[in-house]
Amino acid sequence: MNRLDQTGAAAAPSPASASGPLRLDVVTIFPDYLRVLDLSLIGRAHADGLLDLRVHDLRDWTHDRHRTVDDTPIGGGAGMVMKPDVWGAALDNVLAAPLPAAPASAECAEPAEAASLPAPRRVLVIPTPSGELFTQRTAENLAGADQLVFACGRYEGIDARVAEHYAASGVEVHELSIGDYVLNGGEAAVLVMIEAIARLRPGVLGNPESIVEESHTGAGLLEYPVYTRPVAWRGLDLAATEPVLLSGDHARIDRHRRDQAVSRTAVRRPDLMARLDPARLDAGDRAALTRNGWVAPAGAAHPVPLVVRPALEADLPALADLAARTFPDACPSFLTSEQIAAHIAVNLSPQRLATWLADPRVVLTVAELPDGLPTPPEVPGTSLPPGALVGYSAVVAESLDAAGALPAGLDPRPPSVGVPTGPDGVGGLAAELSKVYVDARLRASGIAPTLLAEAVCDAATMGVTALWLGTNDANRRAQKAYRRAGFRKVGTRTYEVGGERCRDVVMVLNPQETVA
Ligand code: ADE
Repeated sequence: MNRLDQTGAAAAPSPASASGPLRLDVVTIFPDYLRVLDLSLIGRAHADGLLDLRVHDLRDWTHDRHRTVDDTPIGGGAGMVMKPDVWGAALDNVLAAPLPAAPASAECAEPAEAASLPAPRRVLVIPTPSGELFTQRTAENLAGADQLVFACGRYEGIDARVAEHYAASGVEVHELSIGDYVLNGGEAAVLVMIEAIARLRPGVLGNPESIVEESHTGAGLLEYPVYTRPVAWRGLDLAATEPVLLSGDHARIDRHRRDQAVSRTAVRRPDLMARLDPARLDAGDRAALTRNGWVAPAGAAHPVPLVVRPALEADLPALADLAARTFPDACPSFLTSEQIAAHIAVNLSPQRLATWLADPRVVLTVAELPDGLPTPPEVPGTSLPPGALVGYSAVVAESLDAAGALPAGLDPRPPSVGVPTGPDGVGGLAAELSKVYVDARLRASGIAPTLLAEAVCDAATMGVTALWLGTNDANRRAQKAYRRAGFRKVGTRTYEVGGERCRDVVMVLNPQETVA
């Protein structure tokens, strides 16, 4: 017998899998169109009894000599509409087909308990370009049904009362589109849906693990690019472009692939980025997000766009406000608010920031949320308006201007910071990273590492060979973040805040080595 039984009659069920076979009925005026389901994994699953697939000719439910399935639209207009009476007869029949009881477990096999089994979940799917979008979530949902009946429309579609009638009769009805384009009928869409759904049923895929890492599953990222041998092909050498994949270090490989999944999704499907579930993102994912123009703040329902860019004149008021807001977070607890305020008034004033902005020896970078941050209902008060600045960094080069002066506000370089020569053996330039500050609402969201990486890059471009910073001795969190970015501790310094002496750790990095 052909694997695609093309009769409307309910045949004996195939051998059941652990959860019973998924019954699939496709009603169409082109039954042969569905013959491809006989092939490949779906065909094998049908032969193995994991799927019970029936294809029916809609014209079997017509009663006139011409086997008519369509008529002109009521109200006028182009094309033909499929008749509700023919569809009603077909669907009544198919939706009443006896289904094999699902022997979910040994206990359920007892007759008394079998009698109390829940009614099977029968779903009517009507493919249509005006339906809801069929996604991986839809496939996952429909893979849990006992019977899926697909009604393939042609022409202008099926009389709308068909969907209305079955939904009102208690049948679960889904009108689904596979994408924003118009096909000639539902058959090709049904092939797509059946393949996406059936492969999620237990036993259908040879290697169920391959489902775990693919696009549209889990966190909702696209899949990373994959490669196989030969390692070098037509001048594309993975040893040069993807050395991590050849390292044998599986933790690094996982991280690298995940980073690639994030950047691929950001470039190709920004709509998916905006729908990612932050609860499914780890710290590495968050950092990758910010490198790709998105940020997932703690408590936010979804990531929001992030722009890291040079500061502009128009930023000055907001930047001064941000600087004043974030500096206290980095101060030791023994400082009074008056001492901190006195420091801010001199060192982070709008005038100082304006001077920096006008000075080519200073690179001021800001992190902006162009769309702002919507308030999650559970964390009131965390919203930010479109264009909000949420982080900044400043790199101040130790070079003299025409008048022989150093940049305003440059701290004296501690003696522990040496200045190596440049890559060509000449020159050498020191710069202070002064510093990386992020709004408390966006802590641990990956903005600081991104600003830091940007600052190191900028410093490399400026020819800096010693990028140094001082950070409070007690601020272990900041030191750890700088260490992670490649800075190492070379000494300590004393640093005055509002007249009070604080002890700082001094850390340094050579941007020429890091960026090369
Ligand atoms: N029928 C015609 N176009 C379709 C689409 N995009 N999705 C589902 N069914 C369709």
